[in-house]
Amino acid sequence: MSQGAGQAATVSLRNSVGSKLEVAKHGAHVLTWSPGVNEESVLFVSPAAKFGPQDAIRGGIPICFPQFGPRGALEQHGFCRKNNDWAIAKQDEKSVEFELKDSESTRASAWPHTFQVNYLVELTDEGNLATKMKVKNTGSEQFTFTCALHTYFGVGDISSTSVEGLRGCEYEDSLQGGKVLQEQEDAIRFEGEVDRVYGPTPQEIEIKDQSHKRRICIFKSSSFPDAVVWNPWIEKSQKMADLPDDAYKRFVCVEVGAIRQPVSLQPQQEWEASQAISVKS
Ligand code: BG6
Repeated sequence: MSQGAGQAATVSLRNSVGSKLEVAKHGAHVLTWSPGVNEESVLFVSPAAKFGPQDAIRGGIPICFPQFGPRGALEQHGFCRKNNDWAIAKQDEKSVEFELKDSESTRASAWPHTFQVNYLVELTDEGNLATKMKVKNTGSEQFTFTCALHTYFGVGDISSTSVEGLRGCEYEDSLQGGKVLQEQEDAIRFEGEVDRVYGPTPQEIEIKDQSHKRRICIFKSSSFPDAVVWNPWIEKSQKMADLPDDAYKRFVCVEVGAIRQPVSLQPQQEWEASQAISVKS
């Protein structure tokens, strides 16, 4: 454990081909991931991100659980991303597994259930980033949840970036009060704020970043049926204290999740979902 970006306590991993990964213990939050030697992180972290014990870190991969966005009685995106009780369950040179169990504070929340979340973060031999999330109902009553891995992908310029693979998918447009529409475009481009929950979607989604001349491939398991595409654009960025005004140009969020249809778990039942991210030129 060391002090990494923004002074958060972090776990750093490096594999034999020089890929690197840094995860903050606060929120079990992946901060940086570099697939190759001397490469910059593919993930965006805001230069104004806050790393205090009560903060949600702006960038990297926040875990939204047990509630995505405002879809329930909890605070936005649930309590996991701000939680300091994540423990390291296992670690070796290329993977780390975090674990979070219900505590006095989660039991006092609007989601008072008995649970265990395990989150495995791994560098593959090829330098890809693989994450796996498991949720177990360790209590005696059924519960439901929604969740997402809210990945901030760094791009050279949002205006020459597109998200592909969602044509034909239904989506809820959060900017139109959740109106349900169908994606008509092969390539979703950005000329203003975009905030949409697509689902169900194919397992592969691609970000084309023309200015970096690269494609970021996201592969998700079918238990993450949905995907959010979000960029705050100008006005919303100006309202966010932990994001510089022009930083919206340098990232896009593609967030794999189980959102439109909450997951229901019976006592002792488990749910598992994963995503793998790779970069191609
Ligand atoms: C996205 C939501 O997942 O997260 C957006 O779709 C939201 O509506 C964004 O603005 C950021 O949320 P937060 O709580 O980290 O500011």
